[in-house]
Amino acid sequence: MSSFRLSSSVLLVLMLAGVAGCDRVDPNSPVAQRRKVFKEMTKAREHLLAYVKEKQDYDADAAIRDAEALQRLSRQPWPLFPEMKQASEVGRAKDAVWQQPEAFHQLAKQVQDDADALLEASRKRSLDAIKPAASRLEQTCTRCHDQFRQS
Ligand code: HEC
Repeated sequence: MSSFRLSSSVLLVLMLAGVAGCDRVDPNSPVAQRRKVFKEMTKAREHLLAYVKEKQDYDADAAIRDAEALQRLSRQPWPLFPEMKQASEVGRAKDAVWQQPEAFHQLAKQVQDDADALLEASRKRSLDAIKPAASRLEQTCTRCHDQFRQS
């Protein structure tokens, strides 16, 4: 009995430590919402890259659906970065987001243009059309992360 009580209190301590350990983000906050979008963007991009890298047989219809998702998602994160820096809404964004807003918004626009081009390419139902468009999008993700996301 006492050992049961001991282990359950140890468990409780571990659970509390776990909660405190991860950076607690309110799921309704802009940080949490934009991270959700970024994760979905990554998922769609990974599906497309699997075709590009020939890890998976090319499926033109699925590629179009992923490109449509990317086009839609590529619009969503940017309004979730507050115009003025707020301590609670920084997440892993660098200060540069608020210090160089024009450069940030230019890359945000670039990724939307890249997603448009990728969707157009996917509708040609040719992997050769998708490859360069996917690689341009990929470069924009990386470029923005290098400049504006803490590693
Ligand atoms: C204009 C800048 C910009 C572009 C373009 C951009 N990102 Fe990001 N990304 C960020 C910033 C800033 C963060 C940090 C957000 C935070 O912590 O709140 C981030 C975070 C992320 C994360 C981490 C989310 C998490 O759970 O912490 C992923 C994954 C991600 N981006 C994927 C992508 C992909 C995929 C693309 C391209 C299709 C992309 N991003 C394009 C700026 C950008």
